[in-house]
Amino acid sequence: MNRLFEQINIRSVEIKNRIMLSPMCQYSSSDGKINNWHLIHYGSRAVGGAGIVMVEATAVAPDGRITPADLGIYYDDISGYKNLTDFISSTGSIPAIQIAHAGRKGAVRPPWSGDKPIAIEDGGWRTVAPSAIPFDNNWPLPKELDHADIKSIIELFGKGAVRAVKAGFKIVEIHAAHGYLIHQFLSPVSNKRDDNYGGTYNNRIRFLLEIVDKIRDSIPSDIPLFVRISATDWLNDGWSINESVKLAEILKKHGIDLIDVSSGGIKPHVKIPAVRGYQVPFSEAIRKTGVLTSAVGMIDDAEYAEEIIEKGYADVVAIGREMLRNPYWPLNAAYTLKETVKWPLQYIRSSVKSSPKGVG
Ligand SMILES: Cc1cc2nc3c(=O)[nH]c(=O)nc-3n(C[C@H](O)[C@H](O)[C@H](O)COP(=O)(O)O)c2cc1C
Repeated sequence: MNRLFEQINIRSVEIKNRIMLSPMCQYSSSDGKINNWHLIHYGSRAVGGAGIVMVEATAVAPDGRITPADLGIYYDDISGYKNLTDFISSTGSIPAIQIAHAGRKGAVRPPWSGDKPIAIEDGGWRTVAPSAIPFDNNWPLPKELDHADIKSIIELFGKGAVRAVKAGFKIVEIHAAHGYLIHQFLSPVSNKRDDNYGGTYNNRIRFLLEIVDKIRDSIPSDIPLFVRISATDWLNDGWSINESVKLAEILKKHGIDLIDVSSGGIKPHVKIPAVRGYQVPFSEAIRKTGVLTSAVGMIDDAEYAEEIIEKGYADVVAIGREMLRNPYWPLNAAYTLKETVKWPLQYIRSSVKSSPKGVG
């Protein structure tokens, strides 16, 4: 059997294979609410055979959104999400959600509308950050969070996670990567605080650890908790892979089950050597601490995904853009690797044909 299609059990969750839809913002929400786009988009990837369908960065508060079109997990009415998780679960896939706060990178327009900050009078909002340092030239100055603000955001993450579990998500992922609020605390590039949330390594990781503890205390112990990190800022004076390895060891002790290993995002215009599997070595280094990892980034073909799992570079592969292009990537990967997997009954007559690509 190919390792890519081996089941993996994390806490009480049985995941049918090692393929995760990487979280990807759809910028398709209105007022943070889920709609048919999300149902069809995530539903298709579940039908396509992903072991885990990770829903995009979903804000824990309205001012934690990246754009006004982001999803939010800040309403007590979770019926729309329940509808989605019921459907994903019915396909045999595991519904998961990434919860997030954008911090100083929030209040921007969706990519197809220019990706630029929105003035408050045009529907933007005052952003927040560990330190009053804008993301880029001509970006608004974020408000430096005080201790009461920090405590309340930690509470918001706890509440968001509780709602997510209530809505039927079987895995919660904390977004601590890509230059968003938690990463802004981790990185010395954006965190210039001189209190117990800044300066030393232990101070910079404190905000994340308090969020992790809050969530672990708030959700059932059988629910896996993932953290996505940027393993490196790709900057000499930034967050580094060594700091990430050390963080993984600490996060494991705080009840984190898997580190989803990405990179970059703390500053614009940083040169990132984006080639096939460019972040896989970070996953490999972090996995050596004994924590489960997910590798992501230009993992587009089945044989390479299999190699990553087989060689022990990661426990799970997250597929991003390739699964936007092809929602049936896992079923096609099984075909390529000559693996027998369960197809949706509705598609069974096509699974025996020579080219499963015909299903798409
Ligand atoms: C449209 C789009 C939206 C994304 N949104 C998120 C997100 O919500 N959360 C996140 O952690 N990463 C996000 N990412 C990054 C992807 O999850 C993934 O890490 C990245 O695209 C590299 O993987 P790939 O080469 O397989 O696409 C996004 C990427 C794209 C293309």
